[in-house]
Amino acid sequence: MKFVVINGSNLNMLGIREPDIYGRETYADLVERVKKHAEEKQVEVSFVQSNHEGDLVDAIQQAFFDKADGIIINPGAYTHTSIAILDAVKAVKIPTVEVHISKVDEREDFRQVSYIRQACVKTVTGMGIEGYNMAMDHLMGLLGEKQ
Ligand code: DQA
Repeated sequence: MKFVVINGSNLNMLGIREPDIYGRETYADLVERVKKHAEEKQVEVSFVQSNHEGDLVDAIQQAFFDKADGIIINPGAYTHTSIAILDAVKAVKIPTVEVHISKVDEREDFRQVSYIRQACVKTVTGMGIEGYNMAMDHLMGLLGEKQ
């Protein structure tokens, strides 16, 4: 199985940005932790991070051309604004889990809207960086059932 982990705007600033909300672990820590989990589960994983909306659309399309089995995505603030990212997930039809490090449901009103959610098989929020591994486990369960 092959998964792509896509992180959007400002997630490269983890560890620096608002540590009371997002924790002290860095983006490099995130990558290391998810890589370790993937190794344990014997699945392939690759990572993309960009602050640019179009790059995230490209990464979703690339997952299709690379025949990825699942996408784990935290679009950052583009969650709340981007129809283009929603359309990309719909276009590729790859099982996708939406992840948020923070408890978005308990934050500002503008964070209550998620365009991408309707195209996702699951949403994980408020579990910190571990949420990415939970998303991977969910996809593995889902894909295992289909085999
Ligand atoms: C976030 C929540 C978003 O509202 C915010 O814009 C982010 C990070 C999260 O992981 O909790 O950049 O997606």
